[in-house]
Amino acid sequence: MKTQVCIIGGGPSGLLISQLLHLQGIDSVVLERHSREYVLARIRAGVLEHGFADLMREAKCGERMEREGEIHEGFFISDAGVTKRRVDLKKYSGGNSVIVYGQTELTRDLYDARANMGGKVIHNVEDVKLHDLKSGAPYVTYRDGDEIKRIDCDYVVGADGFHGVSRKSIPKDVLKEYEKIYPFGWLGVLSRTKPVSPELIYARHERGFALCSLRSQVLSRYYIQVPLTDKEEDWSDEAFWEELKKRLPAEDAAKMQTGPSIEKSIAPLRSFVAEPMRYGNLFLAGDSAHIVPPTGARGLNSAASDIYYLYHAMVAHYKKGDDRGLDGYSAKALARVWKAQRFSWWMTTLLHTFPDTIPYDRRLQDIDLDYLFSSDAAMASLAENYVGLPF
Ligand code: APR
Ligand code: PHB
Repeated sequence: MKTQVCIIGGGPSGLLISQLLHLQGIDSVVLERHSREYVLARIRAGVLEHGFADLMREAKCGERMEREGEIHEGFFISDAGVTKRRVDLKKYSGGNSVIVYGQTELTRDLYDARANMGGKVIHNVEDVKLHDLKSGAPYVTYRDGDEIKRIDCDYVVGADGFHGVSRKSIPKDVLKEYEKIYPFGWLGVLSRTKPVSPELIYARHERGFALCSLRSQVLSRYYIQVPLTDKEEDWSDEAFWEELKKRLPAEDAAKMQTGPSIEKSIAPLRSFVAEPMRYGNLFLAGDSAHIVPPTGARGLNSAASDIYYLYHAMVAHYKKGDDRGLDGYSAKALARVWKAQRFSWWMTTLLHTFPDTIPYDRRLQDIDLDYLFSSDAAMASLAENYVGLPF
């Protein structure tokens, strides 16, 4: 088989770039290790910045997001179960907001759009291997049952997430990896209950951080910070609700609707960046090149800017023979990626309880939070990062 762009990974990054390229008449094939059902059963984050939403519209996949997504113009930060203050995103970001719309739904919309346009997405591929990336004729092989299949292409996009094969195809002496592992994880619960608050609550508490989020007015998503040693099985639904309530302001705890968990999982918190994001004719995008802790809701949104830069660079190459975008891709993408890293690290540090914390650190957190709510400049910094820095 032959295509212009071979895309490894059928998550949001891979599907979105495939869809955008298609609309510009550029052919691609997406290779996905799992089935569509498996990919769509994964519960992931749910806050989209406006730049991502714009890309979804440009990809002609924005209709359901527009209809079912909720526009959020602010969120709350509570402290010690006592104070609860609102961050006015719209006011402090110059009129911007975010859209609450599950990544699972967004991925479904992208799959539907690809299917409607006859997009080539091949599922259940095994042993994907990238070849001759430094040459002008790279190719990708994969196993389909007993058969090894080959796809010749101009470019390979590595959109296969943190555990994918693409980043690992870059020689060790070329790739520099930066990593920070946090000494805790988030235990997340999805429940068919009315969300406790119409806007998200980020809760700082000595017992550990908590987050009240939602997918719709009948579907809630809650998280609590837990030690890395905890397992999902350690937490009954009852224990989860009890602990969540202890970390929230009394008025919210009192009106919390509880119910059976539909999904319950622990995600460790990690920051990671791989540099460069290009090797020969391979371009990394999304989680394959960088990971953030979820506190600033930047994960999916950092993938969006990669896709934006790469898509425009490929269009310039194919339509005008202009390779400046491709040549500058890695540096441009990384500049924004690192800003999202800084912001995610800052919000994580501000709101979590660190096991090795000393009283001095705790006071600094207090002051950081006080400063935030006493300074328009600090608030503007939070707001512009949360709604997404410009591409
Ligand atoms: N071959 C083919 N596909 C693979 C391989 C492989 N060797 N390895 C992984 N994949 C697939 C995974 O099954 C997955 O569906 O690549 C896809 C990668 O998708 P994501 O992990 O969702 O990554 P990405 O598309 O970059 O999405 C951005 O930002 O923080 C987040 O949660 C957010 O997942 C979201 C991400
Ligand atoms: C979520 O709804 O899953 C969510 C929202 C905001 C975050 C992280 C996760 O910062």
